[in-house]
Amino acid sequence: MASPRTRFVCTACGGESLRWEGRCPTCGEWNTLRQAPASARSGVRASGSRSGLGSGGRTPVPLREAETGPETRLALEVGELDRVLGGGAVPGSLVLLGGAPGIGKSTLLLQAAASLRSRGVPVLYVSGEESAGQVRMRAERLGGSASEVPFVAETDVDAIVEAAREVEPAFLCVDSIQTLRSARSEAAPGGIAQVREGAAVLQTFSKESGTSTFLIGHVTKQGGLAGPRTLEHLVDAVLLFEGQKTLEHRLLRTTKNRFGGTDEMAVFRMTGSGLEGVSDPSGLFLADRPEGVSGSAVAVPVQGSRPLLAEVQALTAPGRYGTPQRVVTGIPPRRLSLLLAVLGRRGGPALGDADVFVNVVGGLRLADPATDLAVLAALVSAATDRATPGRLAFVGEVGLAGEIRGVARLEARVREAARAGMQGVVVPSVAAGAIEGGVRIHPVADVRGLVRLLARDVRGDGR
Ligand code: TYD
Ligand code: MG
Repeated sequence: MASPRTRFVCTACGGESLRWEGRCPTCGEWNTLRQAPASARSGVRASGSRSGLGSGGRTPVPLREAETGPETRLALEVGELDRVLGGGAVPGSLVLLGGAPGIGKSTLLLQAAASLRSRGVPVLYVSGEESAGQVRMRAERLGGSASEVPFVAETDVDAIVEAAREVEPAFLCVDSIQTLRSARSEAAPGGIAQVREGAAVLQTFSKESGTSTFLIGHVTKQGGLAGPRTLEHLVDAVLLFEGQKTLEHRLLRTTKNRFGGTDEMAVFRMTGSGLEGVSDPSGLFLADRPEGVSGSAVAVPVQGSRPLLAEVQALTAPGRYGTPQRVVTGIPPRRLSLLLAVLGRRGGPALGDADVFVNVVGGLRLADPATDLAVLAALVSAATDRATPGRLAFVGEVGLAGEIRGVARLEARVREAARAGMQGVVVPSVAAGAIEGGVRIHPVADVRGLVRLLARDVRGDGR
């Protein structure tokens, strides 16, 4: 083994440096670098290696001879959690689950542990947040095997690793990263440096034991992963659990995934006995859509591998003062600015001086450019005070010349629209010919075409 190098770790941000500096090169704070015990991470590595990184050795081998390890994923079987992970949990990986307090993080992972346990897979649930009694009450609500899940109340990372060595779980949940502390770190307990050190120890343990480890992290109201943000590069995957407290549905998405796509999303519903997967998210997101009201249009974003339907709402009002207001949730603000400019210059209503509000219903975030056309339709509908047809969806990207451009996976989107009960889909005319999907297709070539279409008395079925 190579001789361990001296490291300096910042007590403020956890950033590392190979030499001492007066100012932390990562966060710029002064006098925060402290020498870290050089053996801090190798301590865990000392014992035998069941799988993972250790096996390679120092002698170079052609990649084709390298062991890839068995790609056997652990199926957690809780709603569509496995799909979001890219097909189940990967042995030896470290996953961070972030979310606001009370959103259901502990519930989700206890359900995953219970599901594995019911199939005879060894699991361990560690909490530094709640007592065994509190977790037991949650387990009783969930029913099934939840009460059988082995549990330890612990915050010290070495004690957690020790407990895990005893149980040898395939799935380990640590709730939460904020309560984790490590005797190896000299930094203040609860600080970022402690959290990072603790996570690093768990990562080493997961890799060498082949355990699939899930860390829970609380997210601040502003959406930042607070301390855990600095963990994002350390872990293999980051899952975010989101939702509005008042609504019972929750969105699970991933912002980083070494073993799958990052745009997958799953929808859950919090019930009286735990989280349930929602099998028809399109129906959910359109459920409360008002009929015959202007400023609403149906988009068909692709989230990961799957298209679904979403409602875009817009409201416009004459601007009163100098700078018009732009309040937008669910689409990037720059995208709205661009669409407003295109509308004004390419034959749509001029909204440059108007106050404009745009919202995507249900907490969805649309980053997919194929949702441009629906945003445009909602804006035109709001500006003209004319409702878009109730059973009509809009799919297309909008270019600066006002042209409606083709999009990826148009056919799959049209099929999902048909399945969810739409009678017609407005699509880019460049791609319209090839589409079959059991619904009426309305081709549009540009902004003018869209405005004309919306002015006509087109119904979803096109008659
Ligand atoms: P919890 O998993 O404790 O959230 P987190 O770990 O993210 O802080 O769950 C929080 C809420 O979920 C809590 O207000 C109670 C509610 N809940 C249910 O509605 N049904 C259930 O079956 C369970 C276990 C919790
Ligand atoms: Mg919790």
